[in-house]
Amino acid sequence: PPFRIPVQQLTVSKMSGTPPPVVAASDAEVFMGLLNQVKLDLAEEQKKDVQLESTFCRLKEVLDYNLTGGKKNRGLSVIASYRQLASPSQQTEDNITNAMIIGLCVELLQASLLVADDIMDKSTTRRGKPCWYKNEGVGLFAINDSFLLKSMIYELLKKYCTEKPFYVNVLELFFQVSYKTELGQALDLLTAQPNKIDFSSFTEERYEAIAKYKTAFYSFYLPIAASMYMVGIVSKEAHASAEAILLEMGQFFQIQDDYLDCFGEPEVTGKVGTDIEDNKCSWLIVQALKMVTPEQRTLLEENYGCQDPEKVACVKAVYAELNLQTVYQQYEEKSYARLMSLVDHHSTSLPKISR
Ligand code: FPP
Ligand code: MG
Repeated sequence: PPFRIPVQQLTVSKMSGTPPPVVAASDAEVFMGLLNQVKLDLAEEQKKDVQLESTFCRLKEVLDYNLTGGKKNRGLSVIASYRQLASPSQQTEDNITNAMIIGLCVELLQASLLVADDIMDKSTTRRGKPCWYKNEGVGLFAINDSFLLKSMIYELLKKYCTEKPFYVNVLELFFQVSYKTELGQALDLLTAQPNKIDFSSFTEERYEAIAKYKTAFYSFYLPIAASMYMVGIVSKEAHASAEAILLEMGQFFQIQDDYLDCFGEPEVTGKVGTDIEDNKCSWLIVQALKMVTPEQRTLLEENYGCQDPEKVACVKAVYAELNLQTVYQQYEEKSYARLMSLVDHHSTSLPKISR
């Protein structure tokens, strides 16, 4: 059969529709079971040096707190796409377990990034709980916890995948994608300097670059590219083709995240938005600046990027005057339709892959 990018059943969905089932419920359960296996592995490691006992106990706590409560879309995407791409003879229990290990690695990367991002964004809640750094006695200790979560990826890959033919490709993929995400975070922060309102840098181009680097590579390209390497799809063309559409899906996802930062219900999203306070180059402000009157622009300049709740409310009032919710809904319809046609186009135009 032609190589189909297994995206239809993954991750992007309109907020108005019911999301498609991503994986079998049992996958999600086995996946969480693996987290326990990782904790058992740590207990073994701990025996090698008694001095590290308290450190490993702490690490287990960090894992429990930061790998639970999320949707696990990224990790589960590895397993779902592996099932789509692997030939029947590749669908062995051992290979599926490997896909789950790599899915867990993607979730570890996500946890590591979020722990660090919440400190930088001064956020208060994540996945319905206080951000990790907000916990009593954690604070900036969370920086080291973020590093530990990231190092766990490479420990797991070494333990379970060293002998596999895809080991080096997957390793390099994690290095490359982490680097791109860190560049994206740098661009996000550079464009959102505190106390410096400079709307001239809030352009569509800058917005697209931030979303692509800080979100799309690790959330969309990484999980699918990892399973492509696992089944032996290594050609640059196949990866470039998958990347093109997955980065667009990533952009759609980040725009939704920005919309929810302002208009989402914290009970549903599990987090309280901070983009207006943090002077972020969010999709909403970029759209607003394209539509404002000079008076509205002055109001935004005077009130954006401040912690003061009254100023935040004033920005939201301008957003309401501009009907940004409707602008978003129109974007969502158009972009979703475009993504679906891209899926059709890419999945039929790609060459057959022999495995
Ligand atoms: C979230 O965007 C941004 C990211 C997940 C990227 C974070 C990248 C880093 C922290 C790079 C440095 C990392 C390490 C481990 C050294 P957002 O703030 O718009 O999303 P949110 O609404 O969920 O907070
Ligand atoms: Mg954030």
